[in-house]
Amino acid sequence: MPLVPTGQIVAAGPVCAFNVIALEHAEAIVAGAEAAGRPVILQISENAVRFHGRLPAIAAGTRAVAASAAVDVALHLDHVVSPDLWRSAPEHGFGSVMVDASRLPYRENVAATRAAAEFAHASGLWVEAELGTVGGKDGEPPVDPHAPGARTEPDEAAAYVAATGVDALAVAVGSAHAMTTRNAVLDQPLIERLRAAVPVPLVLHGSSGVPDDELRRAVAAGIVKVNIGTALNVAFTGAVRQALAARPDVVDPRRYLTPARDAMSGTVARFCRLVAGDDET
Ligand code: G3H
Ligand code: ZN
Repeated sequence: MPLVPTGQIVAAGPVCAFNVIALEHAEAIVAGAEAAGRPVILQISENAVRFHGRLPAIAAGTRAVAASAAVDVALHLDHVVSPDLWRSAPEHGFGSVMVDASRLPYRENVAATRAAAEFAHASGLWVEAELGTVGGKDGEPPVDPHAPGARTEPDEAAAYVAATGVDALAVAVGSAHAMTTRNAVLDQPLIERLRAAVPVPLVLHGSSGVPDDELRRAVAAGIVKVNIGTALNVAFTGAVRQALAARPDVVDPRRYLTPARDAMSGTVARFCRLVAGDDET
């Protein structure tokens, strides 16, 4: 199936966006989305690009996996700080980019994001940005979700969207990146207030650490794009550990990457059903 514009998938949402690190992630995400019968967004972060050293190979592999999917798939560049990287998005087949200027003070965040959005829209890209602080990003100290500035304030969010022209907004509502336990407590009333104040779709980052019921309520309150990364790595690494412990003599990577990929696709299918409201509760 051909790639679908990110805006189209989000408009039909709610939808999960999963982070690709290796090709096995892309294969597992597509397999899981197919099993659930749901559209999906494959996203590659700037950190993942740094891991590979450059974008073209992992982008081309991910794009090829996406193009062979039996469900609608969009390609997204995630948490991009480098202007060189977001400028290269169109030539590598991405339909969208998250411009992450959230570490900057408000005025600088607005200026950087507006400049990026102008370029992106001229190139046909859909643009997401972040306001507030979703902590736990690579190399960052943990953030207290109750500290001033850690939560996204609805009036400021509405002004930010108007000033930058972005198509979607990542909001800080109590989640944090890279949680391996699922015990985040979201500020559901704040999500509802943001939904009422902000005219573009809301994005939840750090969704791996959010319990099922909190995630259901967040979607009902107005979250449209649900970003999930760490939960796949928990599944992947757990399966690798188990396979190697069971067979310490194994050297062929396929012996442990096969169960690891299967574990990730099961996790993907479960999140896709949950976010779509298709799971039994
Ligand atoms: O942008 C990616 C997501 O926010 C993933 O966060 O790894 O904590 O699920 P997570
Ligand atoms: Zn994120």
